[in-house]
Amino acid sequence: MSQSLTLRRPDDWHLHLRDGAMLRAVLPETTRHFSRALIMPNLVPPVVTAADARAYRDRILDARPEGAKFTPLMTLYLTENTDPEDVAAAHAARLITAVKLYPAGATTNSASGVRDFDAVRGVLERMAGIGLPLCVHGEVTDPTIDIFDREAVFIDRVLDPIRRATPGLRVVMEHITTSQGVDYVMSQDRDLAATITTHHLVINRNHILAGGIRPHYYCLPVAKREEHRLALRAAATGGDPRFFLGTDSAPHPDPLKESACGCAGCFTAPTTLPIIAHVFEDENALERLEDFTSLRGAAFYGLRPNEERITLSKGVPIASPAHIQTGDGTVTVFDPGFPLEWHVT
Ligand code: DOR
Ligand code: ZN
Repeated sequence: MSQSLTLRRPDDWHLHLRDGAMLRAVLPETTRHFSRALIMPNLVPPVVTAADARAYRDRILDARPEGAKFTPLMTLYLTENTDPEDVAAAHAARLITAVKLYPAGATTNSASGVRDFDAVRGVLERMAGIGLPLCVHGEVTDPTIDIFDREAVFIDRVLDPIRRATPGLRVVMEHITTSQGVDYVMSQDRDLAATITTHHLVINRNHILAGGIRPHYYCLPVAKREEHRLALRAAATGGDPRFFLGTDSAPHPDPLKESACGCAGCFTAPTTLPIIAHVFEDENALERLEDFTSLRGAAFYGLRPNEERITLSKGVPIASPAHIQTGDGTVTVFDPGFPLEWHVT
């Protein structure tokens, strides 16, 4: 039986586009399928001020392929020196859609992130007042905490206390990887949501480590046990509107991944939609695909869903592109380990 599905054009609620030659190479991979994306600010140096965000947005708009209607939704990188008034002005000017909290040292380019969470209280209170969401990289950086426990410990030690201290603050737990993350969202009110990546719906920690170390499956938060992957799949394909797609597509040149100390990040932009369609079909949940990719995130952020449509059709598997070439070198595309039968037509 041939199958096809027409959806509103998706949005990606967590995307790394980088800058310069890398930006120009990876942006078309997103604009081909997505109408909007929330752009992560972890450049070097990071996107900290409204002026930084305006300049970065203009570079992204300049890098769009001919005819692409893609809208980048900008974020600011929260530091202990962030000025609440600059954030509020950027929000009022509709320049930014969220502010991103990286605990210092948690992941790629997070050195300027937050060490002392009390130091950002004023910004968070201002954000709660104006309804500007906080996107959180939810991992503690305490070196005594096992890397596989860092998300669960963050919820108890950092996130829950911040939310209790800042009533009304709207929070997105980015790229959740654990059943504790799913359960925490489900136990809370509508001010809390979570994004789920493409790769965390597909891989568990065995994919990274069993039978040889596979650096292209290494990302942060690191993939966990199978039971957690299953909890993420249930959340993504279930009926709760607070779980939506944020790919965390994060390109790095191959030599930086295939290294004695490889970078974290999976580059999923080119094949995310065929992969997600496969996952939803496996879970008998194709009727919820559009909710996850195109409706829930927009609703959380108070935006209208896209009017344009895309069609996904199931057919003969196509070989997914293994790499793309960029001005900064070759970037490997995430391999889901199954044939891609769904195509965007
Ligand atoms: O795997 C990741 N890569 N996780 C992050 O949090 C950052 C990202 C990157 O920027 O490469
Ligand atoms: Zn990310």
